Amino acid sequence: MEVVIRPDGEDIAGIVADVFERLLTDRPDAVLGLATGSSPLAVYDELVRRHEADRITFARARAFMLDEYVGLAADHPERYRNVIERAFTGRVDFPPDAVHGPDGAATDIPAACAAYEDAIAGAGGVDLQLLGIGSDGHIAFNEPGSSLASRTRIKTLTRQTREDNARFFGGDPDAVPHHCLTQGLATIMSARHLVLVATGPGKAEAVHHLVEGPVSAMWPATVMQHHPRATVLLDPAAASRLQ
Ligand code: F6R
Repeated sequence: MEVVIRPDGEDIAGIVADVFERLLTDRPDAVLGLATGSSPLAVYDELVRRHEADRITFARARAFMLDEYVGLAADHPERYRNVIERAFTGRVDFPPDAVHGPDGAATDIPAACAAYEDAIAGAGGVDLQLLGIGSDGHIAFNEPGSSLASRTRIKTLTRQTREDNARFFGGDPDAVPHHCLTQGLATIMSARHLVLVATGPGKAEAVHHLVEGPVSAMWPATVMQHHPRATVLLDPAAASRLQ
């Protein structure tokens, strides 16, 4: 695992955007893995800037989201499909139908999860997976205790995650859905390059486990230690508990 510590999130965003730009220059039809939440926002802003400067096109790219809340209405502003469109995909030139996410409104959830796995495999797998990390060590919504061999499935969000995400739901943890569909840890590990971004002191403990802890389902991100190509980009606050 490559660990890079940079002065701030903007600097990190430039480095991550370079990784996207190189990939899309070599493989315009690359398959991108997209995270939601706050961590990737500066990356998305930088990718939009480069797209507007005619440096990057997504016209042949495809994208798969990591996760989705269960039970939010199609037009709910915090539904991840709507979040990613606002933050990124709707600001660049992805073709219609090129952006995929787990179907949090499915009536047959196991079938929807299996279909999502099939769609990722059918696209040839994810070339570049962008990740954030939860303060409890989750990646996507693989909460502590998740099987390291897990695939896309329904999960219950921890109280900690619902408190962390309450800021998107008027500050009320009880307004955050209890369930989500999420790519599993093995799904994420199948991507060819993992790039995780973490900033701020709230991530320091999880980052300590990610980088220095033993691999454990109790700190799910630690599975990344087994990935042949994983890059972790940190600001000094997120890196503050590293030895
Ligand atoms: C979101 C996701 C989550 C977030 C994590 C960190 O799609 O997969 O794992 O990356 O909860 O969230 P932020 O970046 O908001 O701190």
